[in-house]
Amino acid sequence: MSGRIPQGFIDQLLARTDLVEVIGARVPLKKQGREFAACCPFHNEKSPSFYVSPSKQFFHCFGCGAHGNAIGFLMDYEHLAFPEAVEELARSAGIEVPREGGSAAAGQQDQYAEILHWLARADQWFRQQLRHHPERARPIEYLRGRGLAGALAAEFGIGYAPPERDALLQALLAEGATRKLLLAAGLVAERDGGTLVDRFRGRVMFPIRDRRGRTIAFGGRVLGDGQPKYLNSPETPVFHKGRELYGLYEARMAARQIGRLVVVEGYMDVVMLAQHGLRCAVATLGTSTTAEHAEKLFRITHDIVFCFDGDRAGREAAWRALENVLPQVRDGRRIGFLFLPDGEDPDSLVQQEGAEAFAARLDGALPLTDYLAERLRAQVNLNTDEGAARLMELAKPLLERMPDSPARDLLVQALDRGSVLRRHTRLQQAPAGVGEFRRKVDYRKSPVRHAIALLLAEPALAAEAGERSSYARIDAPGVDLLLELIDIFRDSPHLPAGAAVERYRGTARQRPLERLLAWAPEVPANEFDWQQEFRDTLARIRALGDRRRQLMDRLARGERLEAEELDWLRSVPAGNAGSPPQEP
Ligand code: UTP
Ligand code: MN
Repeated sequence: MSGRIPQGFIDQLLARTDLVEVIGARVPLKKQGREFAACCPFHNEKSPSFYVSPSKQFFHCFGCGAHGNAIGFLMDYEHLAFPEAVEELARSAGIEVPREGGSAAAGQQDQYAEILHWLARADQWFRQQLRHHPERARPIEYLRGRGLAGALAAEFGIGYAPPERDALLQALLAEGATRKLLLAAGLVAERDGGTLVDRFRGRVMFPIRDRRGRTIAFGGRVLGDGQPKYLNSPETPVFHKGRELYGLYEARMAARQIGRLVVVEGYMDVVMLAQHGLRCAVATLGTSTTAEHAEKLFRITHDIVFCFDGDRAGREAAWRALENVLPQVRDGRRIGFLFLPDGEDPDSLVQQEGAEAFAARLDGALPLTDYLAERLRAQVNLNTDEGAARLMELAKPLLERMPDSPARDLLVQALDRGSVLRRHTRLQQAPAGVGEFRRKVDYRKSPVRHAIALLLAEPALAAEAGERSSYARIDAPGVDLLLELIDIFRDSPHLPAGAAVERYRGTARQRPLERLLAWAPEVPANEFDWQQEFRDTLARIRALGDRRRQLMDRLARGERLEAEELDWLRSVPAGNAGSPPQEP
């Protein structure tokens, strides 16, 4: 892609854009008080719980938790990547997107285009080899032996890399490619002594395509039993395997609207499922499902089944996938896990039992929450208090990765059920775990978070914050973020809060900030009440910081603290001024 888009431009773009207009052009909005409401476009509902705030330039759905600014809305609603969403907004605003880095960025852009060009040429060349190479009978026999029909091979662009040392290299050099570009494209590799050889030799070739259908990398399978069985392109400027999914482009081309997507492990699984009419499979490329994969998938559909081998490695991969999809859990999204019988994969199964039986397996996939609860329960003895407490210990980091949602509450309840039952039957005290967890994720506001929420609701309050130096020695979590926001709004008093939050996209602070932004404080009678509330909150933060510092100083001098003081120290930084890790 081209150079970075400067932050200043994004500020400006979001300040010029009206979110109500952007959303209103796509979803019918009704004025409701100071906001606009609609039935949420991101989940099915009959009464509106989707709100757009013109003053914050932010939307929020109380049903499914979807939220964001104009860029986020376009990314989710139109399935766009970040730069595309920016381009789209800029187009409607009639301005051009500048890129940082001037000519360096332009140079990179050129290289990007050239790499894509040579990958496309290689793609054509591999396919030509499958039709015309003197030894084409070998790959053709191999593919036939695996049951692959010619039409499907053509649709997926399958080709052949012949066994010669540098046939592709010579062919592309003759067309004007440079060695440097072919290396950058991952098509050739450098041997000791500097000679270049074709990376893929004697393999069946699977082109990996991006969302626009351009070939960005290859996977190559040996004919038979050699090692490594599959060879993939290396990471290149146009290919990052943690982001790409094999078969996604083909799945999107095959269906006008994508329903369910099935995530499998192998190239052949995708192709053979397609051949049996299940054109909904995509494969990760020799990695487990990453958080980026999960995000990409959920931009396309709300119904995903992860499919794994039933063996140990498969179960490990499934658990890693689960951890990475947790942040995507929302009401209205279906996430299932399907474990196949040992020794089988989707390719072998669909050939044995046919598409209908395989589809029935997909329908019966284990819901994410059941899988999670099952796996955790298997690790503890629920008949003891220690076991029940340990269950919540194990669940805590996982639950913290999930956004606030009814789905998460259900899961907490499901995990709790064992101990509740026990309480009724044995009349014992409940283990500490559950209630404690509920308190932790309940977004009751610490003074710091309260101050941030007020500021986001009314950026003009930044003027009330007083001297920066008066905060310098407060070491409560989130104070640095509060100060940053105060600086941002002092520099740009007219920046909508939804635009300020844009600066935190992709950082650990994005989600907590967005939650605070979605919080609607009670409307005070007049602006002086706002100012008073904000000043009082800041005073509380300072006071907490002062007390903490005094106690810490006394500890450092070796003084004994009262039990009550120690308790306060323990509770305040983590529970009151602070918050769970990463939260402001
Ligand atoms: P598997 O070893 O499960 O193979 O690899 P498979 O998909 O069943 O392959 P066939 O049916 O024998 O042809 C699953 C996926 O892991 C990656 C590939 O993406 C493969 O499709 N892989 C596997 C590699 O990248 N390198 C390897 O050497 C093996
Ligand atoms: Mn296989």
